[in-house]
Amino acid sequence: MEREFGFTQSDFNKVRTILVGLTGIKLADSKESLVYSRLTPRIRKLGLKSTKEYLKYLEDHLDEQENFINALTTNLTSFYREPHHFSILAQYINQGESVKRIWCAASSTGEEPYSIAMSLVKAYGKFDHDVQIIASDIDSKVLEAANKGTYPLEKVEALPDKKSFFVKGKGSNEGLAKVVPQLRDMIEFIRINLLDESLPIEPNLDVIFCRNVMIYFDKDTQAKILTKLLAKLRPGGLYIAGHSENFSQFSNLIKPIGRTAYIKL
Ligand SMILES: C[S@@+](CC[C@H](N)C(=O)[O-])C[C@H]1O[C@@H](n2cnc3c(N)ncnc32)[C@H](O)[C@@H]1O
Repeated sequence: MEREFGFTQSDFNKVRTILVGLTGIKLADSKESLVYSRLTPRIRKLGLKSTKEYLKYLEDHLDEQENFINALTTNLTSFYREPHHFSILAQYINQGESVKRIWCAASSTGEEPYSIAMSLVKAYGKFDHDVQIIASDIDSKVLEAANKGTYPLEKVEALPDKKSFFVKGKGSNEGLAKVVPQLRDMIEFIRINLLDESLPIEPNLDVIFCRNVMIYFDKDTQAKILTKLLAKLRPGGLYIAGHSENFSQFSNLIKPIGRTAYIKL
């Protein structure tokens, strides 16, 4: 099928080079069509004629980097994704660990930090405003969505205790559910690029969730980011990784305590 905009192999390679430099995300050869389809709306909106023109535009307009990144991140997530991690968090609290500050480091559209907040409310038996959850992502669009806390009803319908945590939309909001303000207020959403040399998070965190983002980085970048994240966690703190992110080779820094869950030494 003929494409609306020119997109050569060299354009694709340039996109990959820029993306890995800005975000650490390494795109495989097989992602060529995906990249084209993700960039097309931007090229169209800017009234440009080809990907080459878009890349020149990107070079000349640094503020376009945000849209470029937003277009190319993959934001797949869901409430209580990998549910065993939320049981581990509840156990950790129930065994008497102090959990006051949690960082969810690639929070996408918010389902993960809201699941953390719901787990805390259940573990403590109340909406506890002494607990601070920091949720961050590199993608400003997903953070905007997360901040709103509004989801299609079908994403919420199967959740336990949904009545305590969501209100069903009415009228023009029919078919949507919104998180209750007490849950929303437990979370602070900020934009953080995990690739940045210094991360704007105070140390001595009790828990870090950093799930299903390291897979996009090469081994060296993963090791660098893991080291930076662990520097923010208190000794004895809980580090939760995604299902295909195994860090058992870092046995000098962390000790496994369950499926892709670790304690900082
Ligand atoms: C597949 S989602 C995972 C969401 C959630 N953690 C989960 O497991 O359901 C990956 C997220 O990582 C974010 N991301 C990618 N590169 C990043 C970077 N360098 N810094 C911060 N976030 C990044 C993406 O924007 C995306 O929202």
